[in-house]
Amino acid sequence: MNIQITRLSNTLGAEITGVDLNTYDDATFEEINAAYLEHQVLCIRDQNLDPESLVTFSERFGVVEPHDNLKFTLAQQPKILVLSNDVDEDGNQIGVIDAGDAWHTDHSFKTHPANCTILYSLKNPSQGGVTDFTNMYAAYDALSDDMKARIANLRGRHSISKLKNKRVQISGAREDAVEFYKRQEKAIPDVDHPLVRTHPVTGRKSLYCSPRFTVGIVGLDEDEGDALLDELIAHSIKPEFRYSHHWRDSDVVMWDNRCVNHRATGGYEYPDIRHLYRTTVEGGPTG
Ligand SMILES: [Fe+2]
Repeated sequence: MNIQITRLSNTLGAEITGVDLNTYDDATFEEINAAYLEHQVLCIRDQNLDPESLVTFSERFGVVEPHDNLKFTLAQQPKILVLSNDVDEDGNQIGVIDAGDAWHTDHSFKTHPANCTILYSLKNPSQGGVTDFTNMYAAYDALSDDMKARIANLRGRHSISKLKNKRVQISGAREDAVEFYKRQEKAIPDVDHPLVRTHPVTGRKSLYCSPRFTVGIVGLDEDEGDALLDELIAHSIKPEFRYSHHWRDSDVVMWDNRCVNHRATGGYEYPDIRHLYRTTVEGGPTG
């Protein structure tokens, strides 16, 4: 194999070509893993994977989590969640539509948020469907020394519930939204994570907060916490920290949730189909 690794932007992301994820050896895996840790977002082009191969590759990075959304897991491989705006012959949705349109890092509402998310693109729409990423190491590094000192020992409160979050809207498409989020609040209590997270492998510090899941700062009153969060969030999405991924069919895109925030941008409509498989690799304590 002739693996090639090419930067996708000045801040984060790399493209890998010359690899078949059905047949790579351990040395190739080490190159992929090193690129993942360095570039934070990888796009491995031109893959032809069955569900088992996608899960096997994902498991090289850790334990693949079961999905909370059982309705849209793949029948023959429940470790895969289907993201799709397609419908079956009876007109029923076959996947999750428009997930994650506010900036976030996956599962930060959990005590142990996901380390890594892997998406395998089977079909892309003719327009839209772009995924935006932002480099939370770079965002932290660019903070003033005063701000770094101010947030060094602060913790953010993270909640799955949109009812507690003034920075996000509840989709009109979800008829039972209030009941849905109240059930979620009960099932998944809010958690605290450090605002400055140290990556357990690279040792680098990153900013760890997002408009989707961070709803307050522990120990600060609401106004002070909101003002600080607004400032950090606005800083974290400055253009110089960002990369926007325009998908091709057969891309495998994976990112490190410990140091990257992301969002989906939509912009496509049925019958223009976006269809992907997702796996999520379990994480550990945030510190
Ligand atoms: Fe996400």
